Amino acid sequence: MLKVGLWLGLFTPFSLPAATKPRRIRPQIDDRLVHAFGDQKGNIIKPEDIKLDASPLLAYPKDVPGNIIRDRNRLNMVLVMRLKPGSVSKLVEKHKVEALIVYSAVCTHTGCNVEGWNNEKQHMICPCHGSEFNPANGASVVLGPAPKPLAILPVKIENHEIIVSGKFTRKVGFQQKQ
Ligand code: FES
Repeated sequence: MLKVGLWLGLFTPFSLPAATKPRRIRPQIDDRLVHAFGDQKGNIIKPEDIKLDASPLLAYPKDVPGNIIRDRNRLNMVLVMRLKPGSVSKLVEKHKVEALIVYSAVCTHTGCNVEGWNNEKQHMICPCHGSEFNPANGASVVLGPAPKPLAILPVKIENHEIIVSGKFTRKVGFQQKQ
């Protein structure tokens, strides 16, 4: 019996609920953002990597001291982008840093990744059912079935790194129309 108890005790950490596993939990304050895909996958994104008139970069948060990329929860995927000079909404003004802003990459319609970009309109596009989001206006929905804007992930910039500084501003992912 004692042996069984010890065995269970030893393995308790591996029985943590999914939501507490470090690769699955939501972005945490002081996480850095890293490239989600491509040659640079896993590398920290520098502000200068985010080009004007380029598609937003897909990224995940990373706990640098723990060397943990939080990529086991697709609700953690975000879009890092540089805003074109010009007017932006009050919400964007509040959350942009050095013309950069970070939005959830998960569409509020049925949860596809918002991977498309229309450079002429400066809109983010969901490839699944064509929803378009305006990044200058808090990722408000300008076309398609998505019922809500994308959430903003607050960040700051220090030492050429983009650092998470708060929680998502609204619920992330699929949302029912109210
Ligand atoms: Fe994005 Fe349907 S999942 S428009």
